[in-house]
Amino acid sequence: MKRIGMLTSGGDCQALNAAMRGVVKGLNTNLDELEIYGFYDGYKGLIYGNYRLLTSKDFSGILTKGGTILGTSRQPFKYMRVPDENGLDKVEAMKHTYHKLNLDCLVILGGNGTQKTANLLREEGLNIIHLPKTIDNDIYGTDITFGFQSALDIATGVIDCIHTTAASHNRVFIVEIMGHKVGWLPLHAGVAGGADIILIPEIPYDIDKVVEAINKRSKDGKGFTILAVAEGAISKEDAKLSKKELKAKKKETKYPSVSYEVAAQIQERTGNEVRVTVPGHMQRGGSPCAYDRVLCTQLGAHAAKLILDEDYGYMVGMIDGQTRKVPLGDVAGKLKMVQPDCQLIKEAKLVGICFGD
Ligand code: F6P
Repeated sequence: MKRIGMLTSGGDCQALNAAMRGVVKGLNTNLDELEIYGFYDGYKGLIYGNYRLLTSKDFSGILTKGGTILGTSRQPFKYMRVPDENGLDKVEAMKHTYHKLNLDCLVILGGNGTQKTANLLREEGLNIIHLPKTIDNDIYGTDITFGFQSALDIATGVIDCIHTTAASHNRVFIVEIMGHKVGWLPLHAGVAGGADIILIPEIPYDIDKVVEAINKRSKDGKGFTILAVAEGAISKEDAKLSKKELKAKKKETKYPSVSYEVAAQIQERTGNEVRVTVPGHMQRGGSPCAYDRVLCTQLGAHAAKLILDEDYGYMVGMIDGQTRKVPLGDVAGKLKMVQPDCQLIKEAKLVGICFGD
């Protein structure tokens, strides 16, 4: 009898259920010979012993279902070693739950922060398998994370819709795209949606260059311009500030996000009407796209093989089209950023997309 714990942690995405289903299907064994404990709301469930024995029914019909059947929450890594309000040591509490249930391993689905805690639990002697989830695609050691492609389809759809209204009104439009501190999602959505200007955190922008690109379009008879702006985009001046100075500046600003600041600057300098659209959490919602369903089935099946082989301590990633086991200790805590000189950016520039640099 194998006993497996499962949890989903951090911001949700479309393909979490598909990935859990992939693992269970991949184990290809009757749930009579297997106990799967689902922990509710991420690490919280493991800390406070909030779980349920799952049955095959739980995994039926969930391939296409967005969100997570287990619920999720953010439990920042930096507070993991800080006792809770009742003085409970969270790491010890998680170990206690794991041992109390006599688990063989824990399958943890989550992004960067989740992965750091997963690695901490591995260092504490627990058997861990991590599956890389995030719409941000910023997990080191895998070419792609699940959730990214589904979010990309949504963000691209938003830019598509903005095109028609921008053209009718001859307006400048900013679509603010998620991605946290990295630019994978805005970069890909911007290219896919035919944005004229893409601003990402990895390439600090010069507002003069942005304005220049808009004016050039007007001169060429193009009445509208579309910008895909990363929620984490940063100007050249701000990139020079220390973390402390930047925090203080953000506290003082009247703009709800960087997109609104860029919009105000463009409006002031060009006299164009500028509008901002923020699709926000829509990008994490709905059903997983076909690509993510396939990816999660593959990652899940590979994770299942590791469980059957009792080969623990890995993230299962996708590298050069192959699923691979990657030692958690080698990747935890590292952020996968867009390289400003990567092929996609070079080619996007060749087709005339401005990055504000
Ligand atoms: O990490 C996924 C993500 O959607 C980021 O793109 C975004 O910055 C963040 O989560 C939003 O977090 P929350 O759901 O807590 O508002």
